[in-house]
Amino acid sequence: MQSSNLKRVFAISGSLRSGSSNHNILNFLKRLAPPDIAFTIYDRLADIPPFDPGNDTDWVNEPVFELRSSIKHASAIIICTPEYAYGVPGQLKNALDWTVSSGSFSGKPTALITASTGGENAHEALLKTLGAIDASVTDDTKLLVSFIRSKMDSEGNIIDEATADSLKAVFNALLKTIQ
Ligand SMILES: Cc1cc2nc3c(=O)[nH]c(=O)nc-3n(C[C@H](O)[C@H](O)[C@H](O)COP(=O)(O)O)c2cc1C
Repeated sequence: MQSSNLKRVFAISGSLRSGSSNHNILNFLKRLAPPDIAFTIYDRLADIPPFDPGNDTDWVNEPVFELRSSIKHASAIIICTPEYAYGVPGQLKNALDWTVSSGSFSGKPTALITASTGGENAHEALLKTLGAIDASVTDDTKLLVSFIRSKMDSEGNIIDEATADSLKAVFNALLKTIQ
């Protein structure tokens, strides 16, 4: 039986790539999670259909329903994403568009980690989107990690100590908001 003190962290990677650096970061954070934190890494981003405002009701298809519900029932959210073509990866933005009308993110403590070659554009754009959906992101729960590939070894371990420390600090700041 789960303790009522159990807190849920729901983590979304913006990369669908096998061996993704962003997935590796989420796995790194998951290993740091204290026992009273249930840390789930979302693995159905590819199942989310193209956003259609005409179908944006309470009776959405199952993957969208499940995504909205996971966000709603989470104590906190982590989004960890690369940048593609100076923007937010399309499938991540698409999923976020499905959460606008449901209000799933409203007031939700959220960490945004953009880990990319550069990443500044996606980071800025996502901060605006998260503002629009009323996610609660603070200065301490946002982090841009540029040159991410050079900060990881071939097995996905973070080999740059400053990056590991910054990731830990963001995670701790997020956990502080829910404890
Ligand atoms: C189609 C494509 C476009 C990209 N465009 C950018 C970009 O505009 N800015 C950037 O910082 N990185 C860009 N990158 C590099 C990604 O940041 C890099 O591949 C990163 O490691 C992807 O994240 P992942 O390892 O989690 O899959 C691009 C990569 C691809 C495949």
